[in-house]
Amino acid sequence: MMTLTQMACAVLNTADGREKTALSRGFAAQWSTARAAGDDVEIGTCSPPDMPARPKTPELRAPRDVPRRKTGSIEGRNALLHAVAHIELNAVDLHWDLIARFSHIQMPLGFYDDWVKAADEESKHFNLMCDCLEAHGSFYGAMPAHAGMWRAAQDTQSDFLGRLAVVPMVLEARGLDVTPGMIRIF
Ligand SMILES: [Fe+2]
Repeated sequence: MMTLTQMACAVLNTADGREKTALSRGFAAQWSTARAAGDDVEIGTCSPPDMPARPKTPELRAPRDVPRRKTGSIEGRNALLHAVAHIELNAVDLHWDLIARFSHIQMPLGFYDDWVKAADEESKHFNLMCDCLEAHGSFYGAMPAHAGMWRAAQDTQSDFLGRLAVVPMVLEARGLDVTPGMIRIF
């Protein structure tokens, strides 16, 4: 079996969203099976890319240059679904990046179990959002997306505690804050 950080780097270096999440889910299954069986597992080390590989589309633009659409229309709802798919894909990379980038700091295995499980869930979310977009005549990559999404990761590249704080308390928290409004729209 590959080391966990080798798995992380393989996910980060895969550009296509569906391929990235398929790898991510496969690795998560391998990891949890090995852990449940009590097999020897290794965290290892790898050098994650500064920016994860991404597909040619969506075109990444500054937030102010991403067109806003009225949410009352099918296009508007697709634009919202597209934005969420983009967030989920960033979340997949963010989880594997955390595993790879801070592997020099030894953490208990349960720490990695949790991040792998969350990465698996984010991968599932991305696929669900893509399925939904495709069911409504669109797809991930059909419109521009925010370029700034990796900013929090870059800002905490060498700050493990900062990264651990910013993922749940800023990024995920913001996601939860906007959820009631999104439920009303749909
Ligand atoms: Fe998610």
